[in-house]
Amino acid sequence: MKNPLDDIFDSFDRNIIFKDKTILQTKHRPEEILYRDEQIKQVASILAPVLRGERPSNLFLYGKTGTGKTLSIQFVRDELLRRFNKDSGFNLKIEYLNCKLKKISDTEYRILAELIKKLGGEVHQTGLPTQAVYAKFTELIDKEKQIVLLILDEIDQTTKKISDDFLYNLTRLNSELSNSQLSVIGISNDLTFLDEIDPRVRSSLSEEEIVFPPYNALQLQKILKERASGCFKEGVLDDGVIEKCSAYAAREHGDARRALDLLRIAGELAERDGSGKILISHLDEANNKIEKDKILDVITSEPKQHHFVLYSILRLNEERKNEPFFTGDVYNMYQSICQKNKMDILTQRRVSDIIQEFDMLGIINVNVISKGRGGRMREIKLAISKDIIGKAKELIENSI
Ligand SMILES: Nc1ncnc2c1ncn2[C@@H]1O[C@H](COP(=O)(O)OP(=O)(O)OP(=O)(O)O)[C@@H](O)[C@H]1O
Ligand SMILES: [Mg+2]
Repeated sequence: MKNPLDDIFDSFDRNIIFKDKTILQTKHRPEEILYRDEQIKQVASILAPVLRGERPSNLFLYGKTGTGKTLSIQFVRDELLRRFNKDSGFNLKIEYLNCKLKKISDTEYRILAELIKKLGGEVHQTGLPTQAVYAKFTELIDKEKQIVLLILDEIDQTTKKISDDFLYNLTRLNSELSNSQLSVIGISNDLTFLDEIDPRVRSSLSEEEIVFPPYNALQLQKILKERASGCFKEGVLDDGVIEKCSAYAAREHGDARRALDLLRIAGELAERDGSGKILISHLDEANNKIEKDKILDVITSEPKQHHFVLYSILRLNEERKNEPFFTGDVYNMYQSICQKNKMDILTQRRVSDIIQEFDMLGIINVNVISKGRGGRMREIKLAISKDIIGKAKELIENSI
């Protein structure tokens, strides 16, 4: 008798679609970083003084998710370390820390402990007063003649969970150092992060600022083609697949990660079908799947307050038709929904954070609009397709 699983396993065995799937993974480092020459050169020229033993300015990189910030800074770091002359008479350390990693930025203690570990020191899990951990950190940096560059990726996480104190202390640390010097490179995809922190921290952190703009559809096409060539078997990509994939991701605020994910999932769906080609239909299905997963994720795993915020956005989207709406409108709607449901009302700042999370997830697009005199408004647009909007609304209504 024929085993019903044979077909399934056989098609995977034959591996008709992928040559090397790891190439589409986020952590894969492409050989060439396209369309970021300008930004990479700027970063390099700001950091170049370290090679002569001079402290570079603090640097702040920002841009929406998937615009190549992490990729670019890691490239520059590797190049600097490669060029650094070991006989320079001083040491150069460039440490990278992703503040979003689990637990790292939960407390000032934890993040300092992590940095100390990276610098080769040791600190017990708990027990010391924070002041003592700072002392240890300072001592570790200052024990030799060196320049330390700290790359704090997703730096907004530190102020969300801790407070501005950590960044304030960090940017003041130089005055306590006598042998060594410290610069901070902050990276964030939260475009309003700087607006919300202590002005002293802001000005010190952003001595230099570099913006990473979103990729447009044509640029995404080129990036995808480059990656796809090593990843897929010859001829498996049907005509127009790369183009449509780029168009989807361009709509999704020019997110290269999203484009790569879409293509990978489309490939997996084609493989599962036993189809020798990735078709447009696989791509549409992949896009639907990503959107659905994101919404479902919010609805099944996030707390009620998130549902209320999302629901407010869905309602406003319906009511306003083509009129734009802003964070403030969402907050008003959210308040009234909470009141109706006898729920506690979160602060406007917290609701802004939730809106930011939805933006990151690609459920909405937030556009920051300058209003003169430093004021800014955040316009919100839904970024998911019509049929999923209806489904999502229904699901939330049931859960409320
Ligand atoms: N110019 C590019 N050329 C090739 N691949 C790119 C380019 N830009 C981004 N990518 C790829 O897209 C993905 C996302 O890039 P990256 O992690 O640098 O984004 P990011 O700006 O740090 O986003 P986030 O704010 O979400 O951390 C990675 O897999 C990266 O390799
Ligand atoms: Mg990043």
